[in-house]
Amino acid sequence: MKQLRYDNYGGIEQMYLAEVATPEPTGQQILVEVKAAGINPVDWKIRNAHLKMADGHQWPRLMGCEFAGVVAAAGPEVTDVRIGSEVFGWVNFKKLGAMADYILVNSSEVHEKPASLDMQEAAALPMVGATAYTAMREEIDARGKRILINGGSGGLGHLAIQIARMDNAEVTATGSGHHQTFMQDMGASHTVNYEETDIAQSGETFDAILDAADTLSWSQAKTLLSEHGTFLDIQPGVRSFVSSFVNNLVSDKKHDLLMVSVNHTMLHRLYDLVENHGLKVHVGREYALMDYKRAYTEVEAGEAPAGKVVLVP
Ligand SMILES: NC(=O)c1ccc[n+]([C@@H]2O[C@H](COP(=O)([O-])OP(=O)(O)OC[C@H]3O[C@@H](n4cnc5c(N)ncnc54)[C@H](OP(=O)(O)O)[C@@H]3O)[C@@H](O)[C@H]2O)c1
Repeated sequence: MKQLRYDNYGGIEQMYLAEVATPEPTGQQILVEVKAAGINPVDWKIRNAHLKMADGHQWPRLMGCEFAGVVAAAGPEVTDVRIGSEVFGWVNFKKLGAMADYILVNSSEVHEKPASLDMQEAAALPMVGATAYTAMREEIDARGKRILINGGSGGLGHLAIQIARMDNAEVTATGSGHHQTFMQDMGASHTVNYEETDIAQSGETFDAILDAADTLSWSQAKTLLSEHGTFLDIQPGVRSFVSSFVNNLVSDKKHDLLMVSVNHTMLHRLYDLVENHGLKVHVGREYALMDYKRAYTEVEAGEAPAGKVVLVP
């Protein structure tokens, strides 16, 4: 089977498609035939050695943390998943391996695929869906609040807009000029074209900010927050950890950090949001796995469509 991997930290040139033996599941493992895998910025943050503390330092390193596919084989202890089932799932940053023909995972790392999503949409959901859910429901508690989603047209942003709107938040979303209508379609109450307007200079204030675009400094975010407002920083690093800790001891405006992880319970929440509450996943572009170089070259350069990008084996 084909598996995307690399042997050294670095750029796109480090990646190659290896031909490896298809693994056999043991114990509680299942083998999933991958039908689609989602691309995320974390793929190249790990490859570029920007997340060394979380990546496990194992070589060769694999690519891709989320997938959808069909269960092809199961270990003898698997009782909760049947061969032939359609599933979607997430693997942690030490493991990875979704950019491949097959992936070996524990049965608890997958969930039945929402029937209303196709394989590409289901593969695009776990990482950004879990982040949007955790941000809006657990960290911010978006209910009835005025929320700024900076970067509302991307993978994370388009789901965060929808979940915040389900909770009756008033959502302002920023994105490029040609993605304004898309963000309105996702439910944004107000949209801002960052090519024309600097939201940091707008004079507006919000009860909470999710910075999916990674363009707001804490000092800019502070001027955009109402009293007791929260800035959710999803680019955690040592510096932001220290500065948020110190800030939160003395200021009513909170600087909180989020690093998401996805478990079976979270996959079930996302399944429920799709099947019972109308959450839509927008896949803006798909590439063949064989075309991974072009895919990552374009997406890493910021030439991404609205929503998510997936690779299809
Ligand atoms: N901490 C965590 O657990 C966690 C989890 C998931 C994601 N993340 C991080 O969240 C970020 C977003 O992920 P994603 O998958 O949503 O990425 P993405 O799909 O590439 O989205 C990026 C967004 O930023 C917008 N943008 C680009 N330049 C901008 C600017 N100057 N001003 C305002 N918006 C701008 C883009 O708008 P246009 O496309 O319209 O230009 C798009 O909406 C990444 O850094 C990712 O690593 C963190």
